[in-house]
Amino acid sequence: MDLFEYQARDIFEKHGVPVLGGVVATTPEEARAGAEKLGGGTVVVKAQVKIGGRGKAGGVKLAHSPEEAAQKAEEILGMDIKGHTVHRVMIAAGAQIAEEYYFSVLLDRAHRNYLAMCSVEGGVEIEELAVERPEALARVAVDPAVGIDAAKAAEIVEAAGFDADVKDKVAAAIQQLWTVFSEEDATLVEVNPLVKTEQGDIIALDGKVTLDANADFRHPDHAELEDSATTDPLEAKAKEHDLNYVKLDGEVGIIGNGAGLVMSTLDVVAYAGEAHGGVKPANFLDIGGGANAQVMAAGLDVILHDEQVKSVFVNVFGGITACDEVAKGIVGALEILGDEASKPLVVRLDGNNVEKGRAILTEANHPLVTLAETMDGGAETAAAKAAATA
Ligand SMILES: Nc1ncnc2c1ncn2[C@@H]1O[C@H](COP(=O)(O)OP(=O)(O)OP(=O)(O)O)[C@@H](O)[C@H]1O
Ligand SMILES: [Mg+2]
Repeated sequence: MDLFEYQARDIFEKHGVPVLGGVVATTPEEARAGAEKLGGGTVVVKAQVKIGGRGKAGGVKLAHSPEEAAQKAEEILGMDIKGHTVHRVMIAAGAQIAEEYYFSVLLDRAHRNYLAMCSVEGGVEIEELAVERPEALARVAVDPAVGIDAAKAAEIVEAAGFDADVKDKVAAAIQQLWTVFSEEDATLVEVNPLVKTEQGDIIALDGKVTLDANADFRHPDHAELEDSATTDPLEAKAKEHDLNYVKLDGEVGIIGNGAGLVMSTLDVVAYAGEAHGGVKPANFLDIGGGANAQVMAAGLDVILHDEQVKSVFVNVFGGITACDEVAKGIVGALEILGDEASKPLVVRLDGNNVEKGRAILTEANHPLVTLAETMDGGAETAAAKAAATA
């Protein structure tokens, strides 16, 4: 889960990373009050969206008075930044910046390790820097068993080429950022910019944190960081039923068992869709091994409530899951859903108890259900039906 900057700021503060005061506002009035709370001086009004490049998009603005903060908030709230609508701003105390640096630590999957990146040339052009002058971005591997201790922090600031006067302070901040990464079970902690102020202090002025959902069980407090307002309602519903569901952009709903089979189903549907005006898969949904009628009903319930869905392709290979169970699940689900089920269903069953499964569906003879012999054939039929009703 990605956090908003204001949430990252709070977590940084909790772990002793130097940050400036920040107040969240959802209206210009709250922005004015926030600026007053921060002392009435210069503040920065920052769009809270989970996407980079806010500054360049006009989502970060300086304000010299609470009145101006309200004005800037008015401009920024509701703004669209790369497809993300701004619902909140953070009013941040204004820093007098002398220098901007970059620091991040992340899970480096390719090397099965953690990686720290650091540069004395931070700021909004860091992406260009990484491409054009990669040597200006120090990359230091971090042993997960050791983490960023004093020695590793010293190695990182050395590799990045910090001046002697800030080395120790930056190293200290980096160690605190490591504490955030490790104690909160993050997969990314990025600070851009980490600044030196005119007064010589080192402060994290921006923060990006991605938390590892696999560790949620040991962080009950992370649940409240979830942004229910922007969570897709279908994904939320799927989560309630413990379904592995990801909403996509197409028209053909997909249900399968096993992540590998579902992934290849997405591919064959996308391929078949090319001949039918480019219809695409509408979602990823893996109902897993041992899926029963309830799970099938829950899955269909989610998919059929996706307004973009025009047809559904159920592609199940029975292993642990027996096809007759799946077939009963489909029949049962259609009964439960009644009139709410109004979209054609193409079903391909194979494997364990396939004959029984097909027999159940044939007997039920539901007007919306078409049986397919093969995966490719099913994908073709589902794509054609989606295109026909689109
Ligand atoms: N509190 C602050 N006081 C003064 N200047 C600030 C403050 N916060 C941000 N800035 C300035 O605005 C720039 C952009 O801010 P910030 O990095 O937070 O947003 P961003 O554009 O989203 O960055 P990124 O692309 O890394 O997501 C900073 O590089 C910094 O120069
Ligand atoms: Mg930034």
